[in-house]
Amino acid sequence: MTPETLRARLLAWYDANARDLPWRVGPAGHATGVRADPYRVWLSEVMLQQTTVPHAAPYFLKFTQRWPTVSDLAVEADEEVMAAWAGLGYYARARNLLACARAVARDHGGVFPDTEEGLRSLPGLGPYTAAAVGAIAFDLPTNVVDGNVERVMSRLFAAPTPLPEGKAELKALAGALVRDERPGDWAQALMDLGATICRPKAPLCERCPISEGCAAFAQGDPETYPRKAPKAARPRRHGVAYILTRGNEVALVRRPPKGLLGGMLALPTSDWRAGAWDEAEALAAAPMAADWRAVGEVEHVFTHFSLTLRLLRAEGNAEGLIWTPRAGLDALPSVFLKAARAGLSNLL
Ligand code: ADE
Repeated sequence: MTPETLRARLLAWYDANARDLPWRVGPAGHATGVRADPYRVWLSEVMLQQTTVPHAAPYFLKFTQRWPTVSDLAVEADEEVMAAWAGLGYYARARNLLACARAVARDHGGVFPDTEEGLRSLPGLGPYTAAAVGAIAFDLPTNVVDGNVERVMSRLFAAPTPLPEGKAELKALAGALVRDERPGDWAQALMDLGATICRPKAPLCERCPISEGCAAFAQGDPETYPRKAPKAARPRRHGVAYILTRGNEVALVRRPPKGLLGGMLALPTSDWRAGAWDEAEALAAAPMAADWRAVGEVEHVFTHFSLTLRLLRAEGNAEGLIWTPRAGLDALPSVFLKAARAGLSNLL
């Protein structure tokens, strides 16, 4: 299949099957010359990094209702934005989001730059996001390559080099299919194909508009692509989380700005280390002396390690903690929300 036939088939498929997503104007919009709002495209792309569409969509709606323009977001307090981001994970993204919004408001009069270079110059806006916003909001012929696009390319060309080494090769293959014609739709057509047809497991090749041109389909083993280098096992860390209550309130702390979960609200915890914590060590690391009771443990999987948190609970009062009503615990990242729920549900 020639590249032109392949493009024509995939774009026709997209015209009929594009997902109706809240940040899109869709192929109908394109046909009438309507372009997506760069702010909404940028926000959705940042949210969708490492997060699925169904998980990100409610956050997108909440953010755009509360902050309809980048200038509204730019003047918001850090804590408010971090709290609204709680549950989306990868909190460095929320900090970068604010830095970028403020740069657009301060240095660009609240208007996103309309070139890939200009977008790249914004803080925290990497090559993927610049390419995606460039294509989707400004119809620039950029090469937008996310995990979906990598998978589609690896199968289409039966690319032999395992990831991550194979990334550059897949990007070059994707780049060779980009044209000046409908770049935003092209990028999103590839993403939608990857998400709904060319799925990681059990791809629906019988419904694929370009299976005729697909090398892995011809070989009969599309699911074995992309080839991957064997992964190192995820190490386990251990910590103790302290659930200190004062009536209906729970003691929280704010994590230091840098590092994992930086700037987020959290339960007080011990260090997280390779070895388990025994009772005496757990008591010694507590935020205050109290009648601490063991109330179970929770597990959480981060990208680079798994965490087992022992839970200790006590009633007490101390200065320097952020006393928060139980109903306000939604602003906690998932790991601490899980720990708080587990610890508080155990009746002492
Ligand atoms: N994943 C990341 N960006 C996306 C988009 N614009 N459409 C669909 N899936 C996506």
